[in-house]
Amino acid sequence: MGERSIVRLTSTASTSNRVPQSVPPGLLQNSRTRSVVSARLRPAALALGITLLAFGRVHAQTDCLACHGDKSMQDASGHSVAVDGATFKASIHGSLQCSDCHADIKEYPHPEHMAPVQCSKCHTDQSTQVSESVHTRASSHPCTSCHGDPHTIFPKSDARSTVYPLNVPETCGSCHGNANMARQHGLPNVYPSYMDSIHGFALSKGGLLVAANCQSCHGSHHILSRKNPQSPTYKSNIPKTCGSCHAKIDMDFENGIHGKALAAGKSNAPVCTDCHTAHAIQQPTQSEFRMQSTPICGSCHKDKFTGYRDTFHSQLGLLGGYVETARCWDCHGAHDVLPASDPNSPIAPANLVQTCGRCHAGANASFVQYQPHADSRNRKMNPALYYVRLFMNTLLISVLTFFVIHTILWLFRSRYEQIRSRSAKGGKDA
Ligand code: HEC
Ligand code: HEC
Ligand code: HEC
Ligand code: HEC
Ligand code: HEC
Ligand code: HEC
Ligand code: HEC
Ligand code: HEC
Ligand code: HEC
Ligand code: HEC
Ligand code: HEC
Repeated sequence: MGERSIVRLTSTASTSNRVPQSVPPGLLQNSRTRSVVSARLRPAALALGITLLAFGRVHAQTDCLACHGDKSMQDASGHSVAVDGATFKASIHGSLQCSDCHADIKEYPHPEHMAPVQCSKCHTDQSTQVSESVHTRASSHPCTSCHGDPHTIFPKSDARSTVYPLNVPETCGSCHGNANMARQHGLPNVYPSYMDSIHGFALSKGGLLVAANCQSCHGSHHILSRKNPQSPTYKSNIPKTCGSCHAKIDMDFENGIHGKALAAGKSNAPVCTDCHTAHAIQQPTQSEFRMQSTPICGSCHKDKFTGYRDTFHSQLGLLGGYVETARCWDCHGAHDVLPASDPNSPIAPANLVQTCGRCHAGANASFVQYQPHADSRNRKMNPALYYVRLFMNTLLISVLTFFVIHTILWLFRSRYEQIRSRSAKGGKDA
């Protein structure tokens, strides 16, 4: 160990003539840092200036890079301690001195092990938010787990940044696409489903910056569990979260019975994700969605679903997956669902001709007498259907009973014939 210190001292000596003797890369001469001074980071930048004046010359980047700029440089355990000076220079922190972050280093040779870099020194807000979030203990260095290599951090608007909108899913997916990690923490493995969803597709295939990435719905630093009422993914906050982009739909939803029930605190009311899911959202006009969604409405409105299932519309949908038939929302609307008693509802008696008329060109007052929720078990409400059902069921049961008895008798008879013919043969042989 002593030996290495000596090596280091000599190498410092030999590199010291490469250290620029002129003015340190001054804080206020740099346009990027100047804009910082005028903006948010005034106290931080001031502290930085003082640090630089005190240590600048000795701790200039070139000083450290004289050793660490060597690509093959490794520590005692064989781990690379090389830093690419050119990339670092181009990064958002390129105007900082190495020791602004590696604050332990006051002189050469520097200690072998140093305290971890505190990003909180300059980024107080983000640090506080992360420390209150689900990710406090998610990794050894919470900031670099998302921002990647600490020497190649770029602004979030730069396509090279790990948190550039198009790169966020992969960044979060480095953990949330890991099935083992998900199992260990009892979480769903969301990355693969997200990538197959309409948002993931729009982002990865279309390169659409405004498509929802993980950050749009969860935030970046203050990510909370969906069970936390402050979380944007807490049930009653979800319409607003999706509505930050889908504004018109959110308005419709809030004017509808489901939105009103939610606002009144009814926890059994549906929100966006009950019908669309959160990470596997599909294009609703696609047949997969149309085929699945009737049961989604039906999972809460069980009685209406049972009634619908007996009707022509549903039978048509079940037989061969006929997509064009009327699903729940073709008659009720999807987001601005209203009870029949509301005159604005598409199922209010006065609006039925129009509602059914969208698909049935000749619909009139007598056509709309048809019961879309015919409950064939209800004799008082639907006598005709009730008796048809009774008749069909009786017929079915009688036919089945007849054939069961017929088959049993036939079996008996064939067994009897077999025994008889065998004993007749046996008598002859003897
Ligand atoms: C004389 C060459 C030399 C100079 C100059 C030098 N370092 Fe190092 N540095 C090393 C060596 C060698 C190691 C590996 C230490 C080990 O094996 O434990 C190292 C390790 C490190 C580590 C990793 C420590 C750890 O905990 O693993 C950091 C961080 C570091 N240096 C930062 C700096 C900074 C910042 C500067 C400039 C202020 C600097 N170094 C200047 C030689 C140098
Ligand atoms: C924005 C802050 C920041 C700046 C500026 C910075 N570093 Fe680092 N550096 C880090 C962080 C974070 C780590 C990860 C280890 C830790 O937390 O201490 C690190 C790790 C290192 C390591 C250890 C490499 C490893 O993989 O373990 C070396 C060597 C190093 N830095 C050298 C430098 C040099 C040389 C400069 C200047 C050219 C520099 N750093 C500038 C934040 C910074
Ligand atoms: C869970 C991932 C994650 C972690 C952990 C994380 N960040 Fe971020 N960070 C992001 C994302 C995503 C953005 C981009 C936000 C946006 O596009 O609005 C971002 C943006 C930023 C920005 C730009 C300003 C802003 O707030 O949008 C700074 C500065 C920043 N992070 C610093 C930090 C620091 C410091 C830490 C550690 C305390 C940290 N981040 C931890 C994901 C993370
Ligand atoms: C010595 C102060 C200092 C330290 C320590 C520091 N930063 Fe920065 N950071 C800055 C300055 C200055 C900027 C440029 C601010 C700007 O342009 O808005 C910046 C910008 C950033 C940005 C880009 C913000 C954007 O607009 O997208 C990220 C991300 C970031 N820092 C993350 C980190 C992380 C992670 C660490 C710890 C490894 C860290 N910073 C440590 C001073 C610092
Ligand atoms: C370094 C790995 C890592 C990265 C990167 C990461 N996470 Fe996490 N995340 C975790 C771990 C581990 C947990 C579980 C924490 C716990 O339960 O203590 C978690 C928890 C969560 C939870 C809370 C789940 C719940 O309900 O309890 C959400 C939401 C989440 N992460 C979203 C994200 C998003 C969005 C990103 C990217 C911006 C991201 N994570 C990046 C490791 C990571
Ligand atoms: C369109 C909005 C949206 C997007 C995009 C999104 N999420 Fe979510 N996420 C949610 C909602 C809402 C929940 C709450 C649970 C639910 O409703 O299924 C959630 C839950 C989670 C959970 C916790 C699951 C649980 O049951 O506790 C994790 C982890 C998570 N998301 C990570 C991610 C990651 C990683 C990405 C990006 C790959 C991402 N999410 C993209 C909205 C979104
Ligand atoms: C950051 C903005 C944003 C957020 C937040 C967002 N979306 Fe989207 N969403 C989009 C964009 C952009 C598209 C269009 C993608 C395309 O057409 O390729 C889209 C498409 C959709 C579609 C497909 C139908 C269509 O119009 O193309 C559905 C369904 C959908 N989003 C539901 C949701 C739900 C549910 C949430 C909340 C859990 C949500 N979105 C949150 C931006 C967002
Ligand atoms: C009760 C179930 C349900 C709820 C709750 C719900 N949706 Fe929908 N959504 C649907 C159905 C069904 C369709 C298909 C409508 C169609 O094809 O005419 C749809 C269609 C969409 C579309 C495609 C554009 C359109 O209007 O056809 C988007 C985007 C969308 N929903 C977003 C949302 C958002 C955001 C929320 C929350 C504010 C939400 N949905 C709440 C069932 C629901
Ligand atoms: C998560 C459960 C849930 C889902 C899914 C759901 N609903 Fe509802 N629905 C409710 C609740 C709760 C009410 C409000 C009852 C109240 O306010 O008393 C309601 C009210 C209604 C009403 C008004 C009639 C009444 O009984 O008050 C209609 C019509 C309706 N829903 C149709 C639909 C349609 C169509 C879908 C699918 C697109 C759907 N619902 C999906 C729970 C659900
Ligand atoms: C062909 C059009 C049509 C379809 C398809 C349809 N409904 Fe209806 N629904 C109506 C009409 C008309 C009424 C009012 C008369 C009645 O109660 O039968 C109604 C009534 C209702 C009511 C009670 C409303 C109130 O104010 O009392 C609910 C809840 C409901 N439907 C849910 C559903 C669900 C869930 C589905 C899908 C499984 C569905 N509907 C499919 C036309 C339809
Ligand atoms: C989304 C389109 C759509 C809507 C809305 C719709 N239907 Fe239908 N309906 C169909 C299709 C498709 C068929 C099967 C083909 C056919 O017979 O036209 C059908 C068949 C029927 C049939 C049996 C066959 C016939 O034409 O006599 C009746 C009765 C019926 N619908 C009544 C209604 C009533 C009443 C409403 C309004 C409450 C309604 N439908 C709304 C698409 C729709």
